[in-house]
Amino acid sequence: MISAAKISDIPNFGKKVITISGQELLFVNIKGNIFAVENECPHQGSPLNAAVVKDGSISCPRHGYRFNLADGSCSDHPELTLKTYRVELSGDEILVDLG
Ligand code: FES
Repeated sequence: MISAAKISDIPNFGKKVITISGQELLFVNIKGNIFAVENECPHQGSPLNAAVVKDGSISCPRHGYRFNLADGSCSDHPELTLKTYRVELSGDEILVDLG
């Protein structure tokens, strides 16, 4: 697990892009639950930092495909999966597993 940020760096219902080991990860804070996903849509590669987060999903700003933040699944297009990363909290510290 790699230290990525402090929880306080990511506002509630906010997002933040953090580059770790050359990979752009998008962190999302939903009421203290932190999710980490690849900042690149698996459809046509659009960055997701401008995406709308709602009901545990993130909607790509380009074509609107919705991905579950927990497992990356896409109910609209099941053949596509957004890469997700395992996150653990240690106090105010966000740790991420790059796999
Ligand atoms: S690039 Fe994301 S839905 Fe098309």
